[in-house]
Amino acid sequence: MKKRTEISAILQSPEMDSTVTVMGWVRAFRNNRFIALNDGSTPNNLQIVIDAEQLPEDTVRKIGFHACISATGKLAPSLGGGQAVEVLAESVEILGECNLETYPLQPKRQTMEFLRSKAHFRPRTNTFSSVFRIRHAVAFAIHKYYNDRGFYYLHSPIITGSDAEGAGEMFRVTTLDLEHLPRTESGDIDWKEDFFGRSTNLTVSGQLQAEIGALALGKVYTFGPTFRAENSNTPRHLAEFWMIEPEMAFYDIYDNMDLAEDFCKYLIRYVLDNYYDDVAALDARLAEEEKSLPADKRRPMGLIDQLRFVVDNDFERITYTDAVRILQNSNPYKKGKFEFPVEWGKDLQAEHERYLVEKHFQKPVIVRNYPKAIKAFYMRANDQQPDEPGLTVAAMDVLFPGIGEVIGGSQREERHDALLGRIAEVGIPEEELWWYLELRKFGGAPHAGFGMGFERMVQFITGMSNIRDVIPFPRTPKSAEF
Ligand code: 4AD
Ligand code: MG
Repeated sequence: MKKRTEISAILQSPEMDSTVTVMGWVRAFRNNRFIALNDGSTPNNLQIVIDAEQLPEDTVRKIGFHACISATGKLAPSLGGGQAVEVLAESVEILGECNLETYPLQPKRQTMEFLRSKAHFRPRTNTFSSVFRIRHAVAFAIHKYYNDRGFYYLHSPIITGSDAEGAGEMFRVTTLDLEHLPRTESGDIDWKEDFFGRSTNLTVSGQLQAEIGALALGKVYTFGPTFRAENSNTPRHLAEFWMIEPEMAFYDIYDNMDLAEDFCKYLIRYVLDNYYDDVAALDARLAEEEKSLPADKRRPMGLIDQLRFVVDNDFERITYTDAVRILQNSNPYKKGKFEFPVEWGKDLQAEHERYLVEKHFQKPVIVRNYPKAIKAFYMRANDQQPDEPGLTVAAMDVLFPGIGEVIGGSQREERHDALLGRIAEVGIPEEELWWYLELRKFGGAPHAGFGMGFERMVQFITGMSNIRDVIPFPRTPKSAEF
């Protein structure tokens, strides 16, 4: 293959008069003369100037939207506005034709829904190429953040026998013949006959295994795919999503909140510092899109302003009991505008979270100490408080504007007997969690951790309104194409 120079390198430090070869996909071709070429290395296109008289007619005819070409020529200062440098092409080679009569994409604005059905081509659009570069940036920044702070990356299993959230929203993994299932004497399916000699599922969370890591290595994090078979068709839910789960020995709920806030800010700052052009492109896209919305549906701030705001301000920290009080004193509550009830003991719904974050505080909010009855079995029980009508656990949720819950976490119940009691209360068979219980029996320690929804964070940073548009191949109910 001919050696090519990446467009990002040329735009960063162009060596005028040097001869370069560039390869990429045509974004636009004007006046039979000017090609806007993109190779994915940057959101910015490079202008290639051709002399149609000097090139084979057949080649010129094939230069067009999303055709793949290689062009060789001298770098020169650009005469036109809009770019500092251009390539004066001496030769052009068509690497991959793209016949617009049959190509599924067209050089015009297309809806996100349509582009979702063309997941094999959508990374070539300006919007999706920026989103996927930023997705990469966030993933890289996650590893950098934890590595720089002495955390170890722990690989939790994808196939597991445990239900880490105790919510039963699992995809089963089996090699049994579904037409001829082996049965026990009592007629139940005999999972002993299955591949692993037991019933298994795809993991909903790596937390329980991360706890094993934290209780030996001190500070660990997992970062991998997790799976939930919940039938949620919303712009915030995927059946397959990625989660980052730090878990730390000797951390309480307050240390946990400090880490969560610092981590969120770091990721946003990293993208602003290193991928500014991509964020700026998405900011402009969003501003354009919002022009068609009525004033009360528009975001209060542009994308970049909002990201800066989050980085520069402290998150609000309140208890669940405070949240209920604020909601019960709110206008929408008094006017009966909330769909779901606000009552101590009931979970906060998206509409309540949005009110707290977007209307009341107008900044990210961390809610802690939720009622025990609505939270997972592993959360540490708090002592009864005089101003609270029921028992709470040391849980915390980080709520973001436009997104809602971006992080959920807790201090863990490290007291063996308390955990045993809780497991019995929620009806999990003790033998399923024997190893988890033994961690409390032998050399246990206070510890805490949280899970960040990777796609929700990427959604916040890119300003995309649907979570299906920040993962290359979304898996949602009734949809697993590509
Ligand atoms: O709040 P969740 O269910 O917490 C846990 O799984 C804990 N085990 C985490 C821990 O403490 N280590 O999920 C954590 C985060 C949520 O805050 C949300 O951002 C994201 O994961 N999340 C989803 N993202 C996309 N699609 C879904 N279906 C999601 N479910 C949760
Ligand atoms: Mg949660």
